[in-house]
Amino acid sequence: MTTANPKPKVHLTKEKETLLATLYGRAVDSRAKHPILGDTMAAETVRRLDYDFKRMRLGPGDSAGVALRAKQLDDWTARFLATHEEATVVHLGCGLDTRVHRLDPGPGVRWFDVDYPEVIDLRRQLYPERDGYTTIPSSVTDPAWIAQLPSDRPTMIVAEGLLMYLTEEDGTATLRRLMAHVPSGELAFDAFSKFAIRSQRIQRVVVKAGATLHWGTDSAGIRALSPRLHIVENISAVEIAGMDNLPPAYRLAVRLTARVPGVRDMARMYNCRF
Ligand SMILES: C[S@@+](CC[C@H](N)C(=O)[O-])C[C@H]1O[C@@H](n2cnc3c(N)ncnc32)[C@H](O)[C@@H]1O
Repeated sequence: MTTANPKPKVHLTKEKETLLATLYGRAVDSRAKHPILGDTMAAETVRRLDYDFKRMRLGPGDSAGVALRAKQLDDWTARFLATHEEATVVHLGCGLDTRVHRLDPGPGVRWFDVDYPEVIDLRRQLYPERDGYTTIPSSVTDPAWIAQLPSDRPTMIVAEGLLMYLTEEDGTATLRRLMAHVPSGELAFDAFSKFAIRSQRIQRVVVKAGATLHWGTDSAGIRALSPRLHIVENISAVEIAGMDNLPPAYRLAVRLTARVPGVRDMARMYNCRF
């Protein structure tokens, strides 16, 4: 007897495999008593994949941290779309994130999810198509795919857990190319500091996947991307709104972390306008 709908097997390595940790983090959060993001589609996706997620050993604090980061980027994207009905969203290194489904943008929005071909192939097996929605199977650093984006609309560029995997040269060139292609917009992402890149051996998910982090930056590095770019918000990952709802032990660890400047600044979230 053959199964009508076999579970897609997952063969992802290195930086591609890390998307499973963030997916799992959102799935675990959705099953919490008081979810932060409530991404039930992530939980359903985890259930449908042939992959041993338990071996990641993500704790409740880890999943809450992933959910808070995603929620912050959702909030910035939703705020942009609330004032730009006719707009483009470009989601770089989308992995199996369900942001387009969570935000459910209106008919004037064209949304592009970009990731490596293996990742987009898996995405297409798991998620339904939508009007106005396009997946692009490409490295974000390849200049060719950008021609698929409209060049005449305000554009929200979102990158979550991506930029640290790019080299500074590739990341800078990619963001500059994108900003040059569109008239105006916002850029929202998380970034690691140079210190975080130097201490990457303590990043469990990255080490387990055998991935390498490259690009560490700060607000001066981000401003240097373009004279058109202005940082509107710049938040330490341990000071994101909602941290107060974390499990007590994790909250204490976060509070202590936030007191040590080098450690507090290891991961920051930026919302910029251009
Ligand atoms: C930590 S995961 C984050 C995935 C997703 N943003 C999320 O939050 O679940 C990193 C993602 O970046 C993607 N990625 C890394 N380098 C990339 C590149 N050069 N081009 C396209 N995607 C890339 C990986 O395939 C993976 O999906």
